[in-house]
Amino acid sequence: MEFGIKIGTPEKQRGACVVVGIFESKKLSESAKILDKVTQGYIKKILTSGDMNGKVNTSLLLHHVPDTLFKRVLLIGLGNEQEFKEKTLQSAVGTVLSALQKTAVTDVTLFLADFPVKARTAAWKVSQIVIQACNGSYRFDQLKSKPENEQSALRKITLCINDRSELAACETALQQGLAIAHGMDFTKNLGNLAANMCTPTYLAKQAKDLAKAHKLKATVLEEKDMEKLGMGSLLAVARGTDEPAKLIVLEYSGSAKKDNPIVLVGKGVTFDTGGISLKPAAEMDEMKFDMSGAASVLGTLLAIAEMKLPIHVVGVIPATENMPSGRAIKPGDVVTSMSGQTIEILNTDAEGRLILCDALTYAERYNPKAVIDIATLTGACVIALGNSTTGLMTNDDGLAKELLSAGEEVGDRAWQLPLWDEYQDLLKSNFADIANIGGRAAGTITAACFLSRFTKKYRWAHLDIAGTAWKSGKDKGSTGRPVPLLTQFLITQANANS
Ligand code: BES
Ligand code: MN
Ligand code: ZN
Repeated sequence: MEFGIKIGTPEKQRGACVVVGIFESKKLSESAKILDKVTQGYIKKILTSGDMNGKVNTSLLLHHVPDTLFKRVLLIGLGNEQEFKEKTLQSAVGTVLSALQKTAVTDVTLFLADFPVKARTAAWKVSQIVIQACNGSYRFDQLKSKPENEQSALRKITLCINDRSELAACETALQQGLAIAHGMDFTKNLGNLAANMCTPTYLAKQAKDLAKAHKLKATVLEEKDMEKLGMGSLLAVARGTDEPAKLIVLEYSGSAKKDNPIVLVGKGVTFDTGGISLKPAAEMDEMKFDMSGAASVLGTLLAIAEMKLPIHVVGVIPATENMPSGRAIKPGDVVTSMSGQTIEILNTDAEGRLILCDALTYAERYNPKAVIDIATLTGACVIALGNSTTGLMTNDDGLAKELLSAGEEVGDRAWQLPLWDEYQDLLKSNFADIANIGGRAAGTITAACFLSRFTKKYRWAHLDIAGTAWKSGKDKGSTGRPVPLLTQFLITQANANS
């Protein structure tokens, strides 16, 4: 999808289609008023006919409206004007896309003034519309022998603002929104790809290709390298599979001086069977998404590289399958992590923390400004927060604030859970320094407690994206989250630096 920004009002523009907002109880938006005036009340007449009531998710496509320079006018319902919020803007963009899905319209013009989101700037609306439009028009059909759904003809969205002083900020927002959307697309493609294709080796190749295309530095550690580093915990998980494990490091140096980096650590379990603690068969296919943390790290690096953000970021991705086999780890096995701490593996399905802990120890070498890990870590997080909210746990409340507000800003929200000392006791082991599971209570928090044993040397936050990284059911597929949150966080960091 292509985007453009223009200054102007609807009576002076021409094009294939203009979108005009109608609020509930048939109240006209800014551009609807103008169009109604130049067409001698045409829009109002349509509303009186009763065919359009302005409710959210409704639309009506009009052809050859007299006295306009547009070939079509698309009326879309925006609901109650006073209640117009972030979420309403999202659904409005979705409504436009679906209304035009089966038409021949290739380019459409939107007027930002139609969307009265309280306390949000025109620039904010621009980036949200760009993200939502790309998100809504994403299709994954690379594994189909012929495309199933007819592709929408829509290629270009022009966003109109009325105030020239907003132009520069809107242009920046457009670039940032596009970069986020591209990062999300990249993340979704990796997540949606089947696990027989998206292996640790494939992820490593993707990182190398990204490095080539965007001037990043990719390094891939093989199992023998990990052995030398003493990554006994990561390698313990990797024992059960025939696919070689990889530790992928991707570095983006966009700041002039070599400042301490922000390190993003992404869980890259390309398929999680549970191992010897085997998962039930139902919905096990969805465990191909268990590398979504890794995919979001790659997507975020793509986004910031595309924006040429002045910041230093290192992505670290432990990648393996979790499989049962004659060589697989067994409940009760004890392994030694890179940090020297011994771990009793009471459940082989709690494998994410086992690979993350060594990656987190590895991150120490960068003397990081902060480390953020992103992982589809616990089913318990889905129970606690559902599918709309990412779980956040941290050893630094300042960092929590920054991440939470980045998520608010870009509509990719997280919520903080406590990481108090009381929970640490649940990880006691009779045989090793620490057990890899806590028990049924507070499963998301005890998983984070486990990680916290390996993150004492730096500011660290953990994002549990088990509920938010993909959708189940008829819309099954990767969401591309939390690329928006992470990218927005880094944009804010970069702005604070310069
Ligand atoms: N990848 C899963 C977590 C998961 C499960 C994410 C379902 C999304 C949906 C993780 O490796 C796992 O299996 N966690 C266990 C931990 C338990 C054994 C302590 C879980 O959540 O059941
Ligand atoms: Mn598991
Ligand atoms: Zn897992």
